[in-house]
Formats: sequence, C-alpha cells, structure tokens
Amino acid sequence: MPDGATLEIFELDGIPGFNQDEEQNPPAKVAELKKRIREADAILIVTPEYNYSVPGVLKNAIDWASRPYGDSAWNGKPAAIMGASVGTIGTARAQYHLRQMMVFLNMFPINQPEVMIGNASERFDSQGNLTDDATKDFIRQLLQNLVEWARRIGQTEGT
Ligand SMILES: Cc1cc2nc3c(=O)[nH]c(=O)nc-3n(C[C@H](O)[C@H](O)[C@H](O)COP(=O)(O)O)c2cc1C
Repeated sequence: MPDGATLEIFELDGIPGFNQDEEQNPPAKVAELKKRIREADAILIVTPEYNYSVPGVLKNAIDWASRPYGDSAWNGKPAAIMGASVGTIGTARAQYHLRQMMVFLNMFPINQPEVMIGNASERFDSQGNLTDDATKDFIRQLLQNLVEWARRIGQTEGT
C-alpha cells in the first residue's frame, strides 16, 4: 500500500440472497458491509469473472449495499477494480460490467491502470501468493492512483 494508506478486507461469504422485503431491516452482515463502506475513503473491488460477468455473490452484495433507495452506501465513493483469471482476458468483461453498475451507483472508478491479470496460474504459486513482479508493480500503481484520486476527491468535498 502507498504511504499513509491501509487496506481492510471484507469477505462476502455468508451474505444471503437479496430480498427486497428485508431491505429496511437487512441481515447483520449487510449492515456491517454498509458501515465499512461508509467508513472507507475508497473502495477496491477484487473479483474473478463468472460466465463473462461479475460473480452473483458480488452482484448480490452490491445490490444489498445500494438499498433501500436513497440510502446506498456506495454513493460518491472513489473506487478501483482488479481481477485475475486463469483465462487470457483476465476478467475484462466482468470489470466493464462492474463499471456500468458504478454509473448508477454514482461511484468514481479510476480508469487506469486496468489490472486484468490473465493466465493467473502462471503468476501465482500453489498457495495463491502472487509471484510475478510485473503484476506486483501494476497493482502497486493501481493502489497509488486510487489513493491519489481519493485524496483529490476528498479535498474538493465541502469546498
Ligand atoms: C461459475 C463459473 C464461471 C466462470 N466463468 C468464467 C469466465 O467467464 N471467465 C473467466 O475468465 N473465468 C471464468 N471462471 C473461472 C474463474 O476465473 C476461476 O474460477 C476464478 O478465477 C477462481 O479461481 P481460483 O479458484 O483458482 O481462485 C468461471 C468459474 C466459475 C466457477
């Protein structure tokens, strides 16, 4: 992470399927997700690609945190996206679907670098550790740009 920034991880497991009848009284894990999003200066979404789009688990979490209408936790958040795939396209299709959602969510994703890690099986070891130096540099640049972007947006708030 860049100097002065910290990264907190929020795993999406355990979030039930979205039910609009429950959106005024969401499950505890969803309330926690919304709280953590609101406390964050910026959001980094890290995802695989499923059937040429975002995994349903991620879409479900995005939907929960966007509701009830007018109380979306995503509103106005600076964001960055990255993903890895064993295929060659490296989650590009999922990432562009995510960017489309971010239009309605009123999030502000940085454009570059686009961290789409293809051929992931050659870039990670069997324990899941990233071993490829070029990919590490790419991720560092993404995080640097995200932090700078979040600071710029933060400076303009309330002026
Ligand atoms: C339901 C399903 C759909 C998938 N669809 C895609 C896809 O459209 N594109 C792709 O690159 N990989 C696809 N994959 C493979 C994922 O990239 C891979 O499962 C994911 O990166 C997790 O890999 P890991 O278990 O090695 O971390 C799919 C996997 C699943 C389970």
